[in-house]
Amino acid sequence: MIKKLEYTDDHELIILDQTLLPHNEKFLKLKDYKDVIQAISSLRVRGAPLIGIAAAYGIVLGVHNFKSDNLKNLEIHFYNLIQRFRTSRPTARNLFYALDRMTAVFMNQIASQSPSASQPGRDFLVEIENALLDEADKIFEEDIELCNRIAVNGSELITDEMNILTHCNTGELAAGGIGTAQGIITTAAKQAKRIFVYVDETRPLLQGARLTAYELEKNGIEYQILVDSLAGALMRDGMVDAVLIGADRIACNGDVINKVGSYSLAVNCARHNVPFYVAAPGTTIDFQLETGRSAVIEERPPDEVRTIRNVPISPRSANVFNPAFDLVPHELVSAIITEFKIHYPPYDFKSIEHVFLPPLPGGVEGRTV
Ligand code: MRU
Repeated sequence: MIKKLEYTDDHELIILDQTLLPHNEKFLKLKDYKDVIQAISSLRVRGAPLIGIAAAYGIVLGVHNFKSDNLKNLEIHFYNLIQRFRTSRPTARNLFYALDRMTAVFMNQIASQSPSASQPGRDFLVEIENALLDEADKIFEEDIELCNRIAVNGSELITDEMNILTHCNTGELAAGGIGTAQGIITTAAKQAKRIFVYVDETRPLLQGARLTAYELEKNGIEYQILVDSLAGALMRDGMVDAVLIGADRIACNGDVINKVGSYSLAVNCARHNVPFYVAAPGTTIDFQLETGRSAVIEERPPDEVRTIRNVPISPRSANVFNPAFDLVPHELVSAIITEFKIHYPPYDFKSIEHVFLPPLPGGVEGRTV
């Protein structure tokens, strides 16, 4: 497994800087929560599940470095931290999922204090910090298991020989575990299925050309990088058996929000009768979101489009529209693979929310339907 994120006993979050891949494998030691927010916003750490995990550890760092024994001040500081992380990348549902879990743990800890203890002392702060660290570790470990289950479920859709087109990066670099869509691909390859992967380069930040290609190389899986706009023509020519992508947020009706370009792929799939599959853990499903229409789509800085790897390609003041994600309406989604099963239309995630609830003590094994 690629080493991409680790929280150390010295209270540092070590991350692999994904903006420098594939040519430079550099690790950064983050000691301050502000550095974690910066790493998330600048995509040094990225991919919906990994963003949630990084944010959970960022919260631990923010509490660890808090220098006061006053409980009220700690509460103010904590909720301020949560708020700042919420705005770091507003589309990935997993970020909010992780922050909500960290908040629930914090609230439990505070509630366990006697009402008169406004100056609880360092011991209590250490207790809170340990509880938060435990929760961050759990979110990380559970994601490893979720990815494995997605891979097992998804492999049912992968035939013995298949040409799969994918978009952005959904592998080990994007998650705690082996990834979502790409986890299915690597697992199918390990099952001796003959997989060929068409990799959309994924403008503007080239997660496909840089990161997915890097991972496929490491796993010895055959691939070709394509400019994004070629996908439709390949489908017309019968060269793509399925499109398989991840998601940043999924609404209850099956609308999928994922890296910009996903909608065009789905439209092309419908036109050319190619299945359009989405793989994501339950932590990506927004059970409060009826349809994807009201989801917040992150808009990114114009220079990401005006430049390629910092080399200017347009007039410096060129007007740019740069949404990071787009919405694939549920009617274009052939199936959604989660850790629970393969879901087919019509989608109604609200009615099965209970199967995705955070695990009871004992891990994800504890889930029942
Ligand atoms: O902007 P990014 O690189 O964080 O976007 C990542 C994606 O769009 C992935 O497809 C998505 O997060 C699913 S990752 C398992």
